[in-house]
Amino acid sequence: MHRNDEKRFYRILRELENNPHVRELERYRQHRGNTAFRHCCGVAEASFRMAQRFGWRVDERALARGAMLHDYHLYTRQHIHINPLRHLIEHPRRACSNAERVFTLSGKEKNIIRSHMWPLTLFHVPRSREAFLVMLADKWCALREMRTRHEN
Ligand SMILES: [Fe+2]
Ligand SMILES: [Fe+2]
Repeated sequence: MHRNDEKRFYRILRELENNPHVRELERYRQHRGNTAFRHCCGVAEASFRMAQRFGWRVDERALARGAMLHDYHLYTRQHIHINPLRHLIEHPRRACSNAERVFTLSGKEKNIIRSHMWPLTLFHVPRSREAFLVMLADKWCALREMRTRHEN
């Protein structure tokens, strides 16, 4: 049985976490004040842990990049005039187009970002294990974050 390369996953993730474009996520808040940066790091780690638990072989690079950029929409919802439901449905598209300005994304990476709100994003269905894991880990992390108040 093939095993995931944990070292490779975390090396790619740490590189992303140090990328100044990715660090822009620190400026935006979501889920009771948590920064989008911390949320995306949490989703990346949770999605890899889930892959390990399910025994699923994944593409470490696509998983790290897709997870870290899945909420790269670069705004705090409360600071702009956007209907909350519209935000839920539309932010994956915005995250993907922002991310494409900075990174060259593979088709799989784009689908991870575009489908992470599925089933709300009807036509953007997770088409890979990696996309399915990020979709699941995002919901799990969001619920966990909403139970705590994040001050800084
Ligand atoms: Fe999102
Ligand atoms: Fe998210």
